[in-house]
Amino acid sequence: MAGRILLGLDVGGSSIKGALVDVDRGATSSALRSVATPSPSTPEQVLEACAQIDRELGASGAVGLAFPAVVQRGIARTAANVDKSWIGCAGGERLAQLIGRPVSFINDADAAGLAEVAAGAASGVRGVVILLTFGTGIGSGLFLDGELVPNTELGHLEFHGRDEEHLDWPGWCARVNDYLARLHALFWPDLFIIGGSVTEHFDQFGPLLRSPTLIRRATHAGQAGVIGAAFAAARAQQR
Ligand code: BGC
Repeated sequence: MAGRILLGLDVGGSSIKGALVDVDRGATSSALRSVATPSPSTPEQVLEACAQIDRELGASGAVGLAFPAVVQRGIARTAANVDKSWIGCAGGERLAQLIGRPVSFINDADAAGLAEVAAGAASGVRGVVILLTFGTGIGSGLFLDGELVPNTELGHLEFHGRDEEHLDWPGWCARVNDYLARLHALFWPDLFIIGGSVTEHFDQFGPLLRSPTLIRRATHAGQAGVIGAAFAAARAQQR
């Protein structure tokens, strides 16, 4: 039986992704659309690109918008990898005005975590779960017994990416292992989930990761933000 189909959008520093998501199955029900993030990545340009994806996919109903920033009560509070004019912007409300439908605005790593908790690597896991997304920036999602503690910015604990220093996987994993050790000492999680764009290489680097905490690969990898955004939209409708 087909479930509720909602649009999930995931804005990143380099691309904007969108897909129709069957929120009852926890999976995309259309091909993933991806466009380059406009430059400059101002609210006007980014939200117009989102509205365009909405039109192309012929979506209806509520929309979830995952965004790479702290999103507090509907307002973007930071802008690490997007234009600084996002700070203070009610991104969800602005997109809702453009497309005429309700929009839930959520941090991208929080959205990815919602997807993993609802239908992925953390489904049914109790206790403390930390999802980390490694991509243009490092995002984090913190969950207690499946409930999100929003807007943790654990990626801003000092950590340098792989690309800028051309690290090979062993070099990168040595850094990630130090980082996981620090997070472990601070949060004592029951599970780490590794997500984001690196996930497709998990077979190469996963065996090199070390932690006293269980480590799992994100199930939804590059689609987690899109799926989780749609979950956020579905949840908002139920409230
Ligand atoms: C931002 C986070 C975001 C992460 C992943 C970081 O630079 O501060 O809010 O979740 O990038 O996009």
